[in-house]
Amino acid sequence: MSDDIISYSSDKKGIVTSECIVDDLSSDIVSLRPTSFKEYIGQKDTVETLKIAIQAAKIRNEPLEHILLHGPPGLGKTTVSHIIANEMGKDLTVTSGPTLEKGGDLIGILTNLGEGDILFIDEIHRIPKVVEEFLYPAMEDFAVDFVFDKGIHARSHRYRLKQFVLIGATTRVGLLSSPLRDRFGIFRTLDFYSVEQLVVIVKRSAAILNTVISDNGALELAKRSRGTPRITNRLLKRVRDYSLVRSHGKVTRESVQAALELEGIDVLGLTVLDRNYLKTIIDFYNGGPVGIEAIAATLQEETDTLVDVVEPFLLKIGLVLRTSSGRKASEKAYRHFKLKP
Ligand code: ADE
Repeated sequence: MSDDIISYSSDKKGIVTSECIVDDLSSDIVSLRPTSFKEYIGQKDTVETLKIAIQAAKIRNEPLEHILLHGPPGLGKTTVSHIIANEMGKDLTVTSGPTLEKGGDLIGILTNLGEGDILFIDEIHRIPKVVEEFLYPAMEDFAVDFVFDKGIHARSHRYRLKQFVLIGATTRVGLLSSPLRDRFGIFRTLDFYSVEQLVVIVKRSAAILNTVISDNGALELAKRSRGTPRITNRLLKRVRDYSLVRSHGKVTRESVQAALELEGIDVLGLTVLDRNYLKTIIDFYNGGPVGIEAIAATLQEETDTLVDVVEPFLLKIGLVLRTSSGRKASEKAYRHFKLKP
C-alpha cells in the first residue's frame, strides 16, 4: 500500500519535568509535552473536571482543592500537573513518595511553597507512614507541627503554611490509606489512550521534531504504543533515527515496522517483558490460574513491576484475566502466539 506523506512543522518550546528514563529527559522529548489543556489530547472527562475546577478557583480567587491522579505509568499524570500549574500561573515543585524519607524532608519542601503553589508527589502510595502523618495537618489546616525535645519536656510548635495545592499521583490507589485518600477533593483516574488519539499525538510530536511521517506510519506507531503517550514519544525517537539512517528520513509504515522489530516491540505493542509474562503463564502454569508472586518468581522480576507496568495494558486488551484464584491467559493470548488454547 502506498503512503501519503504529510509534513508538519512547528517551533514549539516546552517544559521541564522529572521522569524516569534518559530518553524522556532529553530536551526534545520534554518539549513534546503539552503545556496547556488546549494542546492536550485525550482524557476528556478529566480535563473537563480540571478546567472547571481551575476556572472556579480563579473566579473565587482561591487555591484549587487537592487533586489525586490515578492510573498506569506514562498516561500523563506529571504532564497534567505541569499544565495545572501553568494554567493557575503558580510554581510547581515535583517530588516523589520514596524520596521523602523523613518528616523533615517534607517540611523543608512545604515551608518553601508560596500561596497557591502546587506540590506534586509522584508515587504517593510509597511515602513512609511518618511522612504521611505530617501531610494530614498540612493538607487540612495548612500547618505543620514541630515537636521539640522528648518525653515530659516535649513541646510542640505549630508552623503556618501558605495555602498550597497537593497533587498526588499513584499507580495503586488501593495502597493509599483512607485518611490520606479522603483529604483529596478531586480524584480522577487516567485511562489508556485510543489508537485515534495516539495518531494525533504522533503527528503533533513529529511536527515538533520536524520529522515527516506518513498517515500509515503514524497509525502503525500508534497501534504499537500500548495506549501510552510516553511510549509513543519514546518510540518515535527510535523510529526517527531508523528512518533517517535507513529510509532517507521519512517515517513510513515499513520503517516503523522495521525499527520496532529491532526494539522487540510486536504488532500489538507488546515488549519482551509482556511476552515473557504471558508465556510464563501459558508454558509454566498451563495457562493459569496462577498467583502473581509465582509469575514474578519464575520471571525473576519485581511483583510491583508486573502489577504496575505489565498487567494494566494486558488486562485492558484482554490478553490476561484476573480471577479470584489467580491470573489466566485468555484465548486471545494463545491466538497471539499462534497456539491452541
Ligand atoms: N504528549 C504526551 N501526552 C500528550 C497528550 N495527552 N496530548 C498531546 N501531546 C502529548
